[in-house]
Amino acid sequence: MPRRYPPALVVLHWLAAFLVLGSLLGGTFNMAEVPYTDPGKVATLRMHMIVGGLILLVMLMRLVVRARKAVPAAVPGPGWQVAAARAVHLGLYAVTIGMAVSGVALALASGLPGMVFGGAPLPESFDLFAPRAVHGALASVLFVLVIVHVLAAFWHAGVKGDGILSRMWFGR
Ligand code: HEM
Ligand code: HEM
Repeated sequence: MPRRYPPALVVLHWLAAFLVLGSLLGGTFNMAEVPYTDPGKVATLRMHMIVGGLILLVMLMRLVVRARKAVPAAVPGPGWQVAAARAVHLGLYAVTIGMAVSGVALALASGLPGMVFGGAPLPESFDLFAPRAVHGALASVLFVLVIVHVLAAFWHAGVKGDGILSRMWFGR
């Protein structure tokens, strides 16, 4: 059993973490707040759509690599902690992919590609399209999962001092 995640998964983890945190924060505190009449709205949506698509690609690549490579055994600890870590990791995979898929569904339902690449007019509101509600609800779930995940990582690293961060980093 290896002591660290394989380098390909390390690269994909940190790339996904950077892009997901950016999309969550940008989507909630910037994009959803920009009015549809703002001339910058289209550029913001274009960037969000491209980054969201990239996240989907990165997450699918992760699943493929993870299925083929050996990963470290669970961090030792009480049974509930092992189970909680497993559940949060599964949730992060599922909800991140769910966000990207609901984003694609929203793009297809609303004709977003025509707006950001073809100059078609924006709708009065994306709330008119059903996938928007799913996308917004999943964003809240993902926020909670990411906060729990990051706090757990810092608790392991700082309080337990079990070197957990080195498992998701490069080395022998
Ligand atoms: C500063 C932010 C982050 C830190 C410090 C961090 C840290 C870590 C660490 C140390 C592990 C390894 C856990 C173990 O060995 O059991 C891990 C795994 C994982 N992280 Fe993060 N992470 C961060 C952000 C994120 C984000 C935003 C996502 C959302 C996609 C994410 C998704 C995952 C997943 C799915 C795993 C499980 C990997 C697997 O077993 O395939 N992480 N993270
Ligand atoms: C994992 C990837 C993604 C994340 C984390 C993410 C995150 C977000 C967040 C946080 C919001 C604001 C939600 C709210 O405040 O209710 C949002 C809105 C939106 N997202 Fe995403 N998104 C992702 C992928 C996508 C994709 C792939 C597309 C399109 C192809 C997309 C299209 C949109 C649209 C059209 C809105 C509505 C903007 C508005 O109401 O002004 N998203 N997204």
